[in-house]
Amino acid sequence: MGVKVVLVAGARPNFMKIAPIMAAAGEDPRIAPFLVHTGQHYDERMSRLFFEELAIPRPDVDLEVGSGSHAAQTAEIIRRFEPVCLEQRPDIVAVVGDVNSTIACALVAAKLGIRVAHVEAGLRSFDRAMPEEINRVLTDRISDLLFTTEPAAEVNLRAEGVDPARIHFVGNVMIDTLLQHRQRAAASTILQGLGLAGDRGVGAGTVAPYGVVTLHRPSNVDRAETLRPLLGALGEIAGDMPLVFPIHPRTAKQVERFGLGQLMHGDGAPAGQPRNGIHAIAPLGYLDFLHLVANARLVLTDSGGLQEETTVLGVPCVTLRENTERPVTCEQGTNRLAGTDPVRILVAAREALTQRREARRPELWDGHASERIVEILATRAR
Ligand code: UD1
Repeated sequence: MGVKVVLVAGARPNFMKIAPIMAAAGEDPRIAPFLVHTGQHYDERMSRLFFEELAIPRPDVDLEVGSGSHAAQTAEIIRRFEPVCLEQRPDIVAVVGDVNSTIACALVAAKLGIRVAHVEAGLRSFDRAMPEEINRVLTDRISDLLFTTEPAAEVNLRAEGVDPARIHFVGNVMIDTLLQHRQRAAASTILQGLGLAGDRGVGAGTVAPYGVVTLHRPSNVDRAETLRPLLGALGEIAGDMPLVFPIHPRTAKQVERFGLGQLMHGDGAPAGQPRNGIHAIAPLGYLDFLHLVANARLVLTDSGGLQEETTVLGVPCVTLRENTERPVTCEQGTNRLAGTDPVRILVAAREALTQRREARRPELWDGHASERIVEILATRAR
């Protein structure tokens, strides 16, 4: 019997990380993978679409926890994941990223004496107001194998006293997925659908200049005093070129609650010619979103993963946060930190558009991180 690995995925940013690990594990006879979906994200467009597009096998178990406060959601995952571990008796539980599902399942495993592997270990924003930072610190503390994406992560872990023998610099699994699907995504018709590219005649294939926005961090969207000026700054940038804003359910709710919808021009896909303004659209699937970002002049975001994806795609990125746990994207990539002050955002956006940086692809972001992880799991997990 191979090494039994329970892999955990719960929220949207986990799916593109778990996909290549599942694929590599599935091909390795030394590993017996068992996939658990916690159900932290559950909407068609936040979950199932990703399984389909990324060919992630159907989860062996779906815990169907749904939304809730941090305490309620984390507790519910813990409660429902424990019996799975007791029944499956895995050699190791592998968790990815920094969401509530990550810490909840790591904690259950550690308490049952099951080894824990953390993919994307060691990232630190040093901002404890960010729920993900707490999840990262705690998950790393109880993990036996720590897989890192960039050199700063190892520095952070060593500074926290983690035994260096447990740290493995393997690269970035999310970039494995990006590189694998880049070609397929090019067939997406999202740009034509949004009126950003000509679909026939002389204009066929030409792409209008546009930007992409994503916003969902509680620190940015949960208070009207922060969200209103942020949308105001984006509106100014959108005066020069259309900004496409696939809107996260959390953000959609807050925009509605604070009555800020009027700050977004056009609440659907722009028809025909691209118009300036912020175009809020429903969340996109992986392939459409990748194509949209790959062809953008500029990305404005508070997402962690998008800072990494834009670095590899060579698309300028302005991060609407005061800090980043992914410093390599600023040092070697296309990322600029702008915070949430409207003036700084406008300056950063202008700079990003006019002073193009030659991005270097960070070390080991080469499409083979999952294979390295699986090799280590196969040989070191017991
Ligand atoms: C979670 C992660 C965050 C990650 C983000 C990516 C934590 C602490 N946060 O934040 O790190 O960057 O996912 O999306 O784990 N909702 C839906 N449909 C869904 C899921 C959520 O409508 O499928 C709504 C619910 O109203 C829910 C809200 O979005 O209350 C927030 O969802 P939640 O999972 O609590 O956190 P995210 O903001 O998505």
